[in-house]
Amino acid sequence: MDIILLGPPGAGKGTQAQRLVEAHGMRQLSTGDMLRAAVKAGTAVGLQAKAVMDRGELVCDAIVSALIGEELDAMAAGQGAIFDGYPRTAAQAESLDAILSARGRSLNHVIELGVDEDALVERICGRFTCANCGKGYHDKFEQPKVAGTCDKCGSHEFKRRPDDNEDTVRTRMAEYRAKTAPILPIYDARGIVSRVDGMADIDAVTAAIEQVIKG
Ligand code: AP5
Ligand code: MG
Ligand code: ZN
Repeated sequence: MDIILLGPPGAGKGTQAQRLVEAHGMRQLSTGDMLRAAVKAGTAVGLQAKAVMDRGELVCDAIVSALIGEELDAMAAGQGAIFDGYPRTAAQAESLDAILSARGRSLNHVIELGVDEDALVERICGRFTCANCGKGYHDKFEQPKVAGTCDKCGSHEFKRRPDDNEDTVRTRMAEYRAKTAPILPIYDARGIVSRVDGMADIDAVTAAIEQVIKG
């Protein structure tokens, strides 16, 4: 099963993808995470992407589509993919079709997480992750069970993203509205879009996604 989680910054794509990984052994393919790893490693892609990401703009289509192809090639046959933050433009949507069909795969669901823009800044500005295992948290909405200790791996180190500030978030939202939301009709025409209320609490969103996947 291959699915896309679509929604603006802070909609909960990463949060829900992590849960699908745990529940179903699927693989999360987050182009944002891949790009941040490239920045950290100082690769050519990372050097090119860093300033663009810090501004909240989109990295070029060819770079992210190449990253997705590489990740899919590294996956076990039969393992489902969760596309998190990809595709983000019409050109990326077209590339994804080609990338999937070349590998004998196809999309089962596009799940749109609907959220009020006002909530997003609060969500994003309160977000942090475990520096060791990447588990996501929030100052208010998803705190570690023991303060200062990761639930999943026990690490005491956490980090925040450099693009999680109000100015950059506004640019990221504008990019979503202008370039990403317009790809929904492509998938609507195929009858594979399900809309989930992303304003519900985290567990309720997970339950709604499970309903979609069960069909
Ligand atoms: P990316 O990393 O994809 O960031 P994004 O799309 O802006 O999305 P976020 O990761 O901010 O939000 P999310 O939906 O994952 O929310 P989360 O689950 O963390 O991209 C970053 C940058 O990389 C882009 O700006 C661009 O430059 C570049 N890039 C990446 N992909 C690209 C592509 N394909 N093409 C071009 N450029 C690309 O949730 C947020 C917080 O809210 C968390 O703290 C969470 O605990 C909390 N939360 C989640 N759900 C709920 C809920 N239901 N109720 C309350 N709190 C909640
Ligand atoms: Mg994310
Ligand atoms: Zn951890």
